[in-house]
Amino acid sequence: EDHFCYDKRFVGKKVLVTAGPTYEALDPVRFIGNHSSGKMGFALAEAVAALGGDVVLITGPTNQKVKHKQIQVIPVVSANDMLESVQKNWSQMDMGIFAAAVADYRPAHSETQKIKKTQDQLEIILEKNPDILSWASANKTDQKVVGFALETQNGIEYAQNKLEKKQLDAIVLNEIGEPGVGFGTDTNSVKLIFKNNKLRSFELQSKEQLAFSLLNELMTNLYE
Ligand code: CTP
Ligand code: CA
Repeated sequence: EDHFCYDKRFVGKKVLVTAGPTYEALDPVRFIGNHSSGKMGFALAEAVAALGGDVVLITGPTNQKVKHKQIQVIPVVSANDMLESVQKNWSQMDMGIFAAAVADYRPAHSETQKIKKTQDQLEIILEKNPDILSWASANKTDQKVVGFALETQNGIEYAQNKLEKKQLDAIVLNEIGEPGVGFGTDTNSVKLIFKNNKLRSFELQSKEQLAFSLLNELMTNLYE
C-alpha cells in the first residue's frame, strides 16, 4: 500500500462521489443520455482513495475502470437509480462531490416494447428528473457538499447562482468551449468557487492532476 501519499485530512473520511452520465430509457433498446466520460469523477474518486479516504463512487454508464481497491463502486443507469443510491449512503458520509452529468429530463413514458418507425414525426414528452445534489444538500447533517456546474456562457454568474440555490460549500465551474476543456477530454481547466465568494482558477492540466489540486484546495478551505 502507498502510505507515503496519505493526507491526514482525508484519512478516515467517507466521501461520496457521483460520476458519469445517466441514461434515461425511451424503450428497451434506446435512451436519452449525454457525452460525459466520467473521467473527472473517477479521477476524484481515485485521488480521495490515494490520500487515505473511504470512497463510495456512484457512477452512471462509462468505460472508466477503478484502480484503487478501496473504492466501493455502485453502478447505476438512470437519475432515479442514482438518487436512490445516494439516499442509501448519504447519512454515513462526511463529504459529497457531485461530478455526475445527470440528465435533467427523462421520457415521461418508457415503452415496454421497441418503438416502431410508423410515424413521420415522433414527439417525446420529457419530465424533470430529481435534482440529486439538491436532495443531498437539503438532507445533510454535517456533510460538506461540493457541486459542479457545466456552463457554455456566463459561467461565474451561473455557478454562483447554483452555489447559492443548492446551498453548497463549493462549486467547480467547468466552462466548455475551449480546447482541452470539459467532456471526454483527458485534461480540464476549472474554477473553484466557495460560498464566501473566494475563487481559485486551475490551469489546464490532466484530470488526475486536477483532482489532487481540487481536493487540496477543498480541504484547506472547508476544514481549516
Ligand atoms: N445535478 C444533480 N442532479 C440533477 C442535475 C444536476 O445532482 N438532476 C448536479 C450535478 O451533478 C452538478 C450540479 O447539480 O453537481 C449542477 O449541474 P448542472 O447541470 O450544471 O446544473 P443544473 O442545476 O442541472 O442546471 P442547468 O443544467 O439548467 O444549468
Ligand atoms: Ca443540468
